[in-house]
Amino acid sequence: MLHLIKRFFGSLFARPLTGAESSLVQSLLSADLAELFFAMSRADQRHSLTVFVTAGAEPALAEAALLHDVGKTASQLGPISRSLATIADGIGLRLSGRWRDYRDHGAIGAEMLRNAGAGRLAVAFAEHHPGEAPDDIDPAVWQRLATADQV
Ligand SMILES: [Fe+2]
Repeated sequence: MLHLIKRFFGSLFARPLTGAESSLVQSLLSADLAELFFAMSRADQRHSLTVFVTAGAEPALAEAALLHDVGKTASQLGPISRSLATIADGIGLRLSGRWRDYRDHGAIGAEMLRNAGAGRLAVAFAEHHPGEAPDDIDPAVWQRLATADQV
């Protein structure tokens, strides 16, 4: 819960990426994947960059960290609606429309990443976080990403 509160206020006050940070992201991703990254909200870009900095700079890790939340672009929800959708889902309400898309951002993001040619780790982490690693993924690498995603 504390994590969600931190995330909520962090998203309200997120700084846009600097020119240098944007250039760094572009240097790490293919053009198609960079397009997905820059379609995210300012807050999601900032969060994803923080996950990247925290998790480590190996190419596969970088791709997974920077792109794990791209599915959130489908729902187009702001911070308040996201929080409400998370709470509604947590208490078992049936979600529909954009709220359902927000809940399902993992699967949606994984499909977007597959179509854009992302690697296996990025697709898997988008689809299954914050759950367990699939059998074909190194659990230590997964744990680094999962821990970084909690910052
Ligand atoms: Fe995240």
